Amino acid sequence: MKLWLFRSKRTSDRLPTGWHRTFSLPSSRAENDRPASISHLVQPTYERDVLKTFDAAVLRKHDAAFEVEQVTIGDLRPNEVLVRIVGVGMCHTDLLARDEDFAYDLLPLIPGHEGSGVIESIGHDVTLVKIGDHVVISFDSCTRCASCLSGAPAYCSEFRARNVTGRGAEGTGVARSAVGDDVSNRWFGQSSFAEYSIVAERNLVVVDRSLPLELMGPLGCSIQTGAGAVLNTMRLSPGRSIAIFGAGAVGLAAVMAAKASGATEIVVSDLHESRLELALELGATSVVLGTDPDVVGRIKNGGSGVDYSLDTTAVAPVMTAAISVLRVPGKAVLVGAGMADLTIAPALLAGREVTYVLEGAAVPQLFIPRLIEMWRSGSLPFDKLIRTYRLSEINLAERDSLSGATVKPVLLTDRDEFERRP
Ligand SMILES: NC(=O)c1ccc[n+]([C@@H]2O[C@H](COP(=O)([O-])OP(=O)(O)OC[C@H]3O[C@@H](n4cnc5c(N)ncnc54)[C@H](O)[C@@H]3O)[C@@H](O)[C@H]2O)c1
Ligand SMILES: [Zn+2]
Ligand SMILES: [Zn+2]
Repeated sequence: MKLWLFRSKRTSDRLPTGWHRTFSLPSSRAENDRPASISHLVQPTYERDVLKTFDAAVLRKHDAAFEVEQVTIGDLRPNEVLVRIVGVGMCHTDLLARDEDFAYDLLPLIPGHEGSGVIESIGHDVTLVKIGDHVVISFDSCTRCASCLSGAPAYCSEFRARNVTGRGAEGTGVARSAVGDDVSNRWFGQSSFAEYSIVAERNLVVVDRSLPLELMGPLGCSIQTGAGAVLNTMRLSPGRSIAIFGAGAVGLAAVMAAKASGATEIVVSDLHESRLELALELGATSVVLGTDPDVVGRIKNGGSGVDYSLDTTAVAPVMTAAISVLRVPGKAVLVGAGMADLTIAPALLAGREVTYVLEGAAVPQLFIPRLIEMWRSGSLPFDKLIRTYRLSEINLAERDSLSGATVKPVLLTDRDEFERRP
């Protein structure tokens, strides 16, 4: 099983600066993306009238620090919206470009795909949102393919092109840097490690003005992913059992959703004791250190196994463990994004289901308001995972995320109103 969605395409037919070939695919992946035949030349966004110059965190080399630079964007297209970002979560997926192979055709890039902010201007065809709306920005989808039309935008046939290439479906989503080069500016349709983000109106979820907007961005990806795996894909019901591998924001959102669903057994495994303590606080009924020589045995605890499991680690032996801890019948949900292949003995699947879920299989405009209601009622306290940083502290935020010290870094862009939480 290959997590091909996140693999590098390594197309190196570069064009002169200022012009870009629209996105084209390796033929083996063509069935799940844009037609490989689309290759006409189109103008990059910034070559329209200059709309804005602002600070953005740019990753230029897979092993370099983020640099906060000034970038310039061109005028909005008819269905686009300019969002002044107030906060943006750092999701582990933002660090995919730390892999050299994946970074090959992606950098320089403005990552960031858990943005929240205020709409500052709109293209002339925009009807779903208005200037001044408070919004959470979620992933991009086409609205036209069979998946989108059947209410499953996370499985949009253009998901990869629109979200993971960094430049959007047509390959034109770029900003211009101060030194004059192209910087990919449509990571997950938003590239929101920045003071401003250009977004298609379909990616936006309007939220109530009374909410702490700067903390709401993680609903757009990691919280939606963990909670959605439990609520939308597993449809966990009272009395069921679940094992969750990885206690980052995705895994801990799943813990909260499992507790809210009435699960009676919620076992969590992670490498960091501090994260396991937080898992217990949020609803885990027991925890197992990932370094334990018999994680599967500890989770089964002499019984027949759990009804459901969730892997958020993307580590192949852990994914195998997530399948091995299931009773029969049982269902494993994988969400980790990485480069590892998964090889398993087919017999391990006897009576068990395994699926890979994107973005919690959510329709963001329906699911995020539901998550906000859960937060208001106290059953999804995802703000407990958050520590805030200035945009200029992005490298510290990354270090704290990787060391396990911070579960969910949120970068704040407003220099005047900065106040570190918690
Ligand atoms: N499928 C999707 O739509 C989607 C959406 C968001 C995030 N993701 C992916 O989900 C994963 C989790 O994201 P996150 O932001 O929570 O990341 P994270 O890095 O904060 O959390 C991952 C956790 O896994 C733990 N871990 C690593 N190896 C382990 C092991 N051997 N045993 C037990 N625990 C182990 C780490 O200690 C860490 O706490 C990432 O791979 C991310 O890219 C996927
Ligand atoms: Zn679609
Ligand atoms: Zn994410």
